[in-house]
Amino acid sequence: MENNIAIALGAVLFAVIFARLRKSRDLIKDIPGPPSPSWLFGNMLEINLEVPYGGSQFQWQKTFGMLYRTKGCFGENRLMISDPDTLKHILSHPATYMKSRQQQLINETGLGSGSLLFVEGDAHRRIRAVMNPAFSASSIRALGPTLRKAASEVSEVWEALLDVQPSNDVLDIYPSLHNTTLQAVGEGVVGYNFQADKDFAARYHNLVVIAADRSKASVLTDGILPYISKPVMKMLLNFPPPALDKLLDFKAAIGTLAKKLIKDKIDALELGVEPEKDLISVLVDSNSQSTSKMTFEEIKDQFATITLAGEDTTANTVAWSLYELAKNPDLQRKLRTELDEAGPGDAVDYDQLPILNALLKEILRLYSTVPQTGAGRRERQCPPAL
Ligand code: HEM
Repeated sequence: MENNIAIALGAVLFAVIFARLRKSRDLIKDIPGPPSPSWLFGNMLEINLEVPYGGSQFQWQKTFGMLYRTKGCFGENRLMISDPDTLKHILSHPATYMKSRQQQLINETGLGSGSLLFVEGDAHRRIRAVMNPAFSASSIRALGPTLRKAASEVSEVWEALLDVQPSNDVLDIYPSLHNTTLQAVGEGVVGYNFQADKDFAARYHNLVVIAADRSKASVLTDGILPYISKPVMKMLLNFPPPALDKLLDFKAAIGTLAKKLIKDKIDALELGVEPEKDLISVLVDSNSQSTSKMTFEEIKDQFATITLAGEDTTANTVAWSLYELAKNPDLQRKLRTELDEAGPGDAVDYDQLPILNALLKEILRLYSTVPQTGAGRRERQCPPAL
């Protein structure tokens, strides 16, 4: 009986997959690209599991240029785009191009249906308008002291580690850097001391570790996700695989915390207390003055979104920057001179520091923490570069 159900479910799944694949046989298939090693995985193992990341993609870029065809799982044709103008066109035309279904399922399931990373169209514009003051230059600048405190604390941790290990040893900065960025995001972005909340910090850490652990199975799961309907997805959520389980665990923990903190901030605002400088306080304040308000649930979903979007990306970018600086003592000396000459603290205009900006841009180009995002077309329209 159980076997029959499994076979029936499998048959339905494959019927759906083939129906979708037929629909998606399209303009992309004739665009030159690398050979596909298998129908099941296409090029997705080279794209996702290669160590170090990106070797094949840089090679393909040399051979085929900034736009080329790759194969996804089950023979899917995918257009790989790394041309800045075309990317700008796609990102600035959300009415024509949408986020991939696979990404949308993960964002909605893990962050909530109000998350800025999930909503599209008018809802996205409305939420962005309320959130913009929280991301203004002055709001970000106001976080300077919090960020400098975090940097100085993590430097002390590393100096203490170096005191107890030989100077030529390798120093693993990764765990302490994640603790620090979580702490900085907690204080600066959501106004909460995450490190003092050991239970939350452990749940968050579990999620980061398991999300980074890619395997053939997780690549295949990503390949199947776009073909799963919402009702089937809801049913599967009752038996989540380990990575999804950790995401749901994080969502539950941060949801409870967010509700309490946002309620406290709204209460304080109503009592006329001056808002704190953290971004969620700025957001709650700007929402209270907005004519197209966000709901309580929508603010709650931004809490998880900003924590996740801000922490891992920052920790990885800083880690790779320090790695490159460690390998290039000459660059390190030049950067230190530039920073020394810029002077201390709040007076520094970081946009005017050419070496720092060049370093960060190269790190984002070579070691991007979000090396790819998926998009689909709402209409049968090509990006202009084609
Ligand atoms: C090096 C650091 C960062 C990188 C590489 C990065 C990268 C990205 C990318 C690629 C997206 C677009 C995702 C998509 O739509 O598919 C995005 C969106 C977003 N990021 Fe970041 N991010 C970084 C830091 C941060 C920080 C520090 C925060 C918050 C404190 C943040 C908050 C957000 C938010 C709220 C969105 C959604 C924006 C929208 O849809 O309008 N990010 N980020």
